Amino acid sequence: MKKKTAELWAKQDKHGGDRWRLFSAVATVVDGDTVLYPGSYVDIAPSFVFRSVTYLDIDSRAHRFFADADGVRELVAEHDGPKDVEIAFIHGDYTGALDLPEEHYDLLVSLYAGFISEHCTSHLKIGGTLLVNPSHGDVAMASIDPRYSLAGVVKLSDDKYRVETSDLDTYLIPKKPQAVTIESLHKTRRGIAYTKSPFAYLFTRVA
Ligand SMILES: C[S@@+](CC[C@H](N)C(=O)[O-])C[C@H]1O[C@@H](n2cnc3c(N)ncnc32)[C@H](O)[C@@H]1O
Repeated sequence: MKKKTAELWAKQDKHGGDRWRLFSAVATVVDGDTVLYPGSYVDIAPSFVFRSVTYLDIDSRAHRFFADADGVRELVAEHDGPKDVEIAFIHGDYTGALDLPEEHYDLLVSLYAGFISEHCTSHLKIGGTLLVNPSHGDVAMASIDPRYSLAGVVKLSDDKYRVETSDLDTYLIPKKPQAVTIESLHKTRRGIAYTKSPFAYLFTRVA
């Protein structure tokens, strides 16, 4: 493994297995093993849990990291995950047209990387899951997208993640009444303050 690969992963994994725990919790409710992760940077934790993951990022450091394919496989192999993992990386911009199949992936990941639900949903299967955190406004974007229905929330306490699927009507309630539109979200590029604030949300693609 290249020294830079190890260094980038050590920095990414500074909370020792945090993302591994997150994706392990999420996997308990995802039906399938194919994942699309736009804006992934070097977060390879989905491959510790899911068999086939396509990562995508515009950053040249991510490009160099994934170019060390043997090094990345070595890191993944340390985690006792699925056999025969498939790891693909696209160096590109997720807001443009992507040479990826439509309605294909079981899980679309949107963590701290902008309006991924807006640009990449066509690649998610109907019935597939969007994992999204509230940073950068993508939860609010998904909440007003008719293609999505809230299916769960991911809570974090004592370094443990768990998925809850009950009382979902008590989430996504803005603290201050306000009109949430695509235009207002593009303008602010920030999340909405909700009365409850789980770590992340799970939406099912329904249309
Ligand atoms: C804050 S990092 C988050 C990385 C990772 N999702 C995580 O949670 O650790 C945001 C990443 O999104 C990438 N990104 C932002 N806009 C992008 C775009 N339009 N296309 C591809 N990648 C993008 C950046 O290059 C960066 O690596």
